[in-house]
Amino acid sequence: MQTRVVDPHISEDDELLDQNLRPQSFASYIGQTNTKAAIQIAIASAQQRSAALDHILLFGPPGLGKTTLANIIAKEMGVGFKTTSGPAIERAGDLAAILTNLKDGDILFIDEIHRLSRPIEEVLYTAMEDYALDIIVGKGPSARSIKIDLPKFTLIGATTRAGLLSSPLRDRFGSIFRLDFYDVEDIQAIIKRSAKLLGIILNEECIDVLAHASRRTPRTANRILKRVRDFALVKNGGQITIATVKEALDLMTIDMVGLDEIDRRIITIIINQFNGGPVGLRALAAAISEESQTLEDVYEPYLIQEGYLIRTAQGRLVTDKARMHLGLTQDSPRLFQS
Ligand code: ADE
Repeated sequence: MQTRVVDPHISEDDELLDQNLRPQSFASYIGQTNTKAAIQIAIASAQQRSAALDHILLFGPPGLGKTTLANIIAKEMGVGFKTTSGPAIERAGDLAAILTNLKDGDILFIDEIHRLSRPIEEVLYTAMEDYALDIIVGKGPSARSIKIDLPKFTLIGATTRAGLLSSPLRDRFGSIFRLDFYDVEDIQAIIKRSAKLLGIILNEECIDVLAHASRRTPRTANRILKRVRDFALVKNGGQITIATVKEALDLMTIDMVGLDEIDRRIITIIINQFNGGPVGLRALAAAISEESQTLEDVYEPYLIQEGYLIRTAQGRLVTDKARMHLGLTQDSPRLFQS
């Protein structure tokens, strides 16, 4: 997979950056208003009842703050937080070791929970429902099942699409929340907050251009902000002007609506090779040399959200908005200078 500045997946670089920029409380968490309000009520209720929080499933495109929210929930509940991911849990014993080490009320965060294997999912069912593990000891006729009680923990699962989960697993979550792309105003506020924390000075016009280029995704906004800071440092003595912002975005091939080279290639291929669509997911993935799931989870959500692409039963279709956007920019190597 090519590396893209707009790639919403977390990189090592982001990990360090995120540790400083990630909000630590609901008070500093911008956006996702409805989800935040519902979670705050669930927390207050659990605290009044002195009970563990119900299991929570968070789903939505990468980079929108699922891990951050899970962290904040643990902080606000005042409980321990253990994090792992679907692919990291290879054997039932791995999961048993994690679960038996939790304390009452602790939160276990499982990222990419849709990637758990079926046998491990099945262990999770009783753990979530009865706070117990059924373990088979021995083999053959002497095999016995023993039950181990678990602490009253809360599972927070994260996935890109709720539909990727099996329904028995999905049914065991008390609340399911979809994280949406952020409003541009929220992204502006996030850029302002991050700039302040990083000691970066930039004016409203720069913030506005950066916000529109950030695909309504905080992780992308923070990454672009950092790259623009670097660019200004090297090329303009550290001063961030609107011209440096635009030049830096051009260099990253990000245009004024947040599309990058790959997004534009997807749209162009549908127009040129598939007559504008409809084209099936697999044929399109093959044409852009990507995995179907990456196309569906990483590239498409923003293109669909912004009305450049439509998903129909027959396949993907490009819209007039996409054609217009390309028409305006395709002859221009300087993306902001058209
Ligand atoms: N940084 C990343 N995501 C954020 C959010 N939702 N609010 C504030 N700062 C953030």
